[in-house]
This record gives sequence, structure tokens and C-alpha cells, in this order.
Amino acid sequence: MSDFLPAASSSADASTATSGPSRNVVVLAGGISHERDVSLRSGRRVADALIERGHSVVLRDPDASLLPYLAENRPDVIWPALHGASGEDGALRALLDMLAIPYVGAEAKAARLAWQKPSSKIIVERAGLATPRWVTLPRDTFRELGATQVLSLVLDSFGPEVVVKPAMGGSALGVGVLDSADDLPRAVVDAYTYGEVALIEQRVRGVEVSIGVLDLGEGPFALPAVEIEPRSGVYSFEARYNAGETRFYAPARLDEATAAAAREAALTIHRTLGLRHISRIDLIIDAAGTPWFLEANVLPGLTETSTVPQAILAAGHSLGSVYEQLGEVAIAAATV
Ligand SMILES: Nc1ncnc2c1ncn2[C@@H]1O[C@H](COP(=O)(O)OP(=O)(O)O)[C@@H](O)[C@H]1O
Ligand SMILES: [Mg+2]
Repeated sequence: MSDFLPAASSSADASTATSGPSRNVVVLAGGISHERDVSLRSGRRVADALIERGHSVVLRDPDASLLPYLAENRPDVIWPALHGASGEDGALRALLDMLAIPYVGAEAKAARLAWQKPSSKIIVERAGLATPRWVTLPRDTFRELGATQVLSLVLDSFGPEVVVKPAMGGSALGVGVLDSADDLPRAVVDAYTYGEVALIEQRVRGVEVSIGVLDLGEGPFALPAVEIEPRSGVYSFEARYNAGETRFYAPARLDEATAAAAREAALTIHRTLGLRHISRIDLIIDAAGTPWFLEANVLPGLTETSTVPQAILAAGHSLGSVYEQLGEVAIAAATV
């Protein structure tokens, strides 16, 4: 385990004032994505943790006044606590690049790749890692070839244990985890309410884990895996953000070799996708110990029930020091 986890330094864990310079930080939260409320909760938590470390923090919703505001005020660093399309698809990050203001997290192109689940799966699979077998189906394919005909072929090929999800999305919105063929048409309709392209994937049975990857200045390392055990059996939107709906184990109840292999896989995926500073890799570990890649998140949830903050605390770091160090790494990256 220690291979992946640098020891928390004492300065990193002082829970009060910052050890470095006080920074002007803009935390972005909200936005118009389906995950707006989650983002507001993440952003508030990041802002509070940074304020406690002695930084000047402005919490901003991305709206028409944001770009002029940033151009005028030029904060030292931007902390985009935005989930869903508006923060994770790379568009806003590309605009921040044009403004030449440092920001925490993946750069625009890598964010775009990770945001599109099918492209991230292709890249991860080509790197030799396991990802559930899948087919990407735009709505037009159903229109052209007929929903019944397409779905019956998919069922013949995959069997009834499939997962249907929007090709781009988050917080399990529009995701259907199925064990019966009868539920497939409805699940596909649900997925299309979140976008024009659906991903149908083989369902993997096993232990679901989320693994945060951080770079606090000495290269990326994997946090302990956090095991997710939803009471309903499915890690749905409700299971994520209502306290008590899911049991989390930080670290996951895995044997040491399996845990180390999962963390190594997460680190490889973070690197292969070209991610930066922070990411969260979602995996299911099957009975043989194989970690199956589901997706990568360039701005993982940072709410009170989210897995990355739990992993940070389990690793002996404080949230404030980690969020602060990520800002410093972003500033340093911009000045080389
Ligand atoms: N192939 C799969 N097999 C089993 N469960 C899955 C699979 N894909 C997704 N899930 C379940 O659905 C949830 C959401 O899927 P995920 O791909 O992580 O999308 P999101 O971006 O919405 O988090 C996962 O947390 C997991 O519980
Ligand atoms: Mg996920």
C-alpha cells in the first residue's frame, strides 16, 4: 500500500492556517448541468476548507458574468467544483486556458476524453485493462434500424444482465442496472433523456470501489479504495447523496494484493487518460480480483457523502491541506 501513498507530512496536516502564501481562489460551483445541486455542495465544502486554511475564496456560479469577472480579477487559481457537462467536458477548461488562469484538475482535452465514457473505455482497453464489453448506440440507430430489432440483437449477444447509461453523464442519472430483459426498453428511454447516445454495457458483479488519484506535487498516487455498498443494491443518485443510504468502507474490505492491484489499475488509468491533479476512477472488482473500469471522473464529488473526501481522511490527510496543495500544484504547473 505504501507504494502508492506518500506519508502525510506534518505541514500538510496542520488543520489551521496555511503554511504557504494566502491565495485568491475562485471556487466554481453550480452550473446548468443535471448535477447542479451536487456541485453546489462540493463547492461549498471546498470553499470552507480553503477559507479555514486562510485563503480568500470567492464562490461563483458559472454564468454570463464569469469570464469578464475572471479577466478583471485574475485570481491566483480556480477550483472548478463543477460536475457534469459544464465542468467535466473540457469546454470551460479550454476557456480558462485562454484566460491563462491556473485551475485545478484535468486539462481541457483530457477532460473531454474522460467525460465521453465510450472513448475513455477504448483508451483504457487499449492500455490492456479490463472494461465491461459495451456497445455505443446513438438514438438515430434506433430510429433507423428499429428499436425492437436492435434491442433483440443486443439481448441475444449480451444476455439480460446489462447496464444502460448515457454515454456522457454522472451521478448515476439515467443509469439502469438490469437483470431482466423486460426492463431494457424502458432503461434505454431513460438513458436518452440525458443525451443522444446510450451505452449498453455488460453488467459486472462484484465489489464496487472508487479510487481517488491525487498529485500533491510529487506525481500522482492512488488513495485507498473506498468500497460502496448501497442498501438498495444499486448506487443510484439517491444512494449517493442521502446519508445512510449507502455504507462506505474506507479502506475497502479487500485483501492486500487485490487492493494494491486495484489502486495500481486506477493510477494507470489516470495516467493513460492523461489526467492531472485529481481524478476518481470507478471500478468493480469481480470474484477473481480483476478490476473492471467503469469510468473516470475529472472532478469527483466532494460532498459530505462522497468517496474521495472519505479516502483523503482515511489516508491521514486533512481536506483543507489537500485542496490547498492541489491549488499550489496548479499554480506551479502554470508557471513552468
Ligand atoms: N458494467 C456495470 N456493471 C455493474 N454495475 C454498473 C456497471 N456500470 C455502472 N454500474 C453501476 O452504475 C453506477 C453508475 O455508473 P457509472 O458508469 O459510474 O456512471 P456515473 O457517471 O453516472 O457515475 C455505478 O456506480 C455502478 O453502481
Ligand atoms: Mg461513476
